[in-house]
Amino acid sequence: MIGIDVLEIKRIKNLAKDEKKLNKIFTKNEIEYFKKYKDNAERVCGFYCAKEAIKKALCCPNNLSFLDIEITHEQNGKPVVNIDKKLYNINNIEISISHSKTVAVAICLVN
Ligand SMILES: CC(C)(COP(=O)(O)OP(=O)(O)OC[C@H]1O[C@@H](n2cnc3c(N)ncnc32)[C@H](O)[C@@H]1OP(=O)(O)O)[C@@H](O)C(=O)NCCC(=O)NCCS
Repeated sequence: MIGIDVLEIKRIKNLAKDEKKLNKIFTKNEIEYFKKYKDNAERVCGFYCAKEAIKKALCCPNNLSFLDIEITHEQNGKPVVNIDKKLYNINNIEISISHSKTVAVAICLVN
């Protein structure tokens, strides 16, 4: 299964500055990652797209909250999805994220 999402970074600028709102969507580790970057809206937007793409690839299960998904990175920077695979009956999940100054995009493959 496959999912994709694209989002304009300007739509996420306010969210990226609001820790209270960030906490409702992103895990502590994800927020720590954002804090490494001075202008982090691109990163926040990329992760948001990634979570939307994952939801689509999983066919939008009702019980799936953004906080059930955590995105981390391998040492080389490759994004990794941490999710309860048994709960969603999947073996493998892959994402790819890209961002420019104006948009972010993410794609997710699940099997
Ligand atoms: C990694 C690389 C492809 C990123 O491309 P870019 O044009 O600079 O930036 P993009 O906006 O398209 O992508 C950024 C996203 O790439 C992802 N990424 C970083 N390193 C990655 C890697 N090694 N493999 C796959 N994805 C990677 C991250 O998710 C990052 O976004 P995030 O930090 O918000 O999670 C680029 O820096 C590069 O060519 N690095 C050296 C070679 C390399 O490692 N290639 C990976 C191919 S498997």
